[in-house]
Order: sequence, then structure tokens, then C-alpha cells
Amino acid sequence: MSAAFSNQPFFSLNEVKTRYGIKKVLRGVTLQIPQSQTTVILGCSGAGKSVLLKHLNGLLRPDSGSVRICGEEITTLSERQLVPVRRKIGILFQDGALFDSLTVGENIAFPLQERGVRDRAQITSAVAEVLEEVELPGEQAKMPSTLSGGMRKRVALARALVSRPECLLCDEPTAGLDPVLSQTISLLIRRMTEEHRLTSVVVSHDLEVMRLIADHVIFLLEGKVRYAGDLAGLEQCEDDVIRAFFSAKGGGG
Ligand SMILES: Nc1ncnc2c1ncn2[C@@H]1O[C@H](COP(=O)(O)OP(=O)(O)OP(=O)(O)O)[C@@H](O)[C@H]1O
Ligand SMILES: [Mg+2]
Repeated sequence: MSAAFSNQPFFSLNEVKTRYGIKKVLRGVTLQIPQSQTTVILGCSGAGKSVLLKHLNGLLRPDSGSVRICGEEITTLSERQLVPVRRKIGILFQDGALFDSLTVGENIAFPLQERGVRDRAQITSAVAEVLEEVELPGEQAKMPSTLSGGMRKRVALARALVSRPECLLCDEPTAGLDPVLSQTISLLIRRMTEEHRLTSVVVSHDLEVMRLIADHVIFLLEGKVRYAGDLAGLEQCEDDVIRAFFSAKGGGG
């Protein structure tokens, strides 16, 4: 089901709680992520950003609370019922998670094959098209181990986009990249979001990434939402914890 109303949030979480052993990682997360925009999730290391992102496509399930996608509750769905929900969503994991034994082309083709696409010509042309979009045309035959960090991120982005999802989840898409490459990847995500009218959720602790791509920002602190709103509101926010985060990052404000 597509989001029926343009003002309906793509994701809506209510009091999501998740713990590992005695560690409470998400302590009651309530948030809404608007559709067809880019939301950046900021926060310190260990705040629970990656764990939160994996709740958005049901890879992780909360101990309690509600996760809705386009109005549909997903926490009660079986793995089988989650399949069509996950098809709406492409994900770029924090470490890229490319298969090192497969070529670039085979890596990118993987989500299509997983979705049951068998037509080789269709796969070949979808892979070629998305590689052009991420500005790596003709690199299908390369092995991931021979790529630079920035190229690996772009291949991972191509793999997240190849099945033409409605939503793109990216975990630290610019980690480990120099500022120029980081800007290139950020602008690429922005362009893809606009061209394909995607709902994008980008986890980052890089303020430059946030400034380049965020329409909406969520600041996560110790498993709870500390701020949700627009960028201007965050930069003017007088919350001591958020100010400390900005000054530690040299972000001023
Ligand atoms: N599978 C797991 N088992 C046990 N603890 C976990 C697991 N995954 C995450 N955690 C814990 O949950 C907390 C939040 O982890 P998470 O990876 O979401 O942080 P993060 O905000 O993404 O940090 P970073 O910016 O460093 O990527 C951490 O304390 C982490 O140790
Ligand atoms: Mg993380």
C-alpha cells in the first residue's frame, strides 16, 4: 500500500522500547518521518541510531511500542507478511555490507534477484542504469576489494536503489570519507531523493551532511528523541546537550 495521503507520515513510531540484556537501547521513541523528504537522524555514538534504523524495516522488532509504515502496523507482522513491506524500502548499512566475493554488478543485482526478477536483460539494464545514476558507469565487473571507500559507498547506494524503493534508509553514508567525497555522496542522496520522490532517512553524526540534505532532523539522545523539527530550529535550539554536540563537532551556532 502506498501512502494514501500526502500528509500522512511514512513512518510513525510510538513509545518504541528495545533492550539488549539489561541495556535499554531505545527507551520510548516516539517520532514521525514525513514522506518524500529527507530526515536526518543525528546523535552521539551509541545513542541508538543504527538500532532505530533497523526497526524501520522490521529487521529488528521492539520489545514494546508501535511502528507504522504508511499507516500499517508492522510489529505484529510475520516475516512473510513483512516481505512486501520491505520491498518498499532500500537500505544502505553502516559498513556498506557488500558481498566481497561478488562483482559490483552481481552485488547490485542481488535485491532484484531476491525479489524474484529472473529476466537477465531486465537485470542488466537496471544495474547499468543505477550505476550511471551513482556516477560509476560501466564498473559492473570490478570486485569490491578493488574499490575506494567512496566507490564502495556509491555501489552500496546503487544496490539500495536498484529495486526502485519508495524509501531509502542510509546508515552513515559518508563515514570514513574525506570532506569532498562526503559532499558528493550527500548531494547524490539529495538528488536521488528529489528525482525519485523518495522518503529518505539518513543516520549521520556529520553536521555538513545534515546541512546539505536535511529537510527534517531528529536528534537522538540515549535512546530517546531530544529534538524533532527543521534544521533552523535545531541550530537555534538552546538545549544544553544539543549545543554541546554542536560545539564538540565545531559546528558553531
Ligand atoms: N546486537 C546487539 N547486541 C547488544 N547490544 C547492542 C546490539 N546492537 C546495538 N547494541 C547496543 O545498543 C547501543 C546503540 O547502538 P547503535 O549501534 O544503535 O548506536 P549508534 O547510535 O548507531 O552509534 P554509532 O554512531 O557509533 O554508529 C550501543 O550501546 C550498542 O552497544
Ligand atoms: Mg550506528
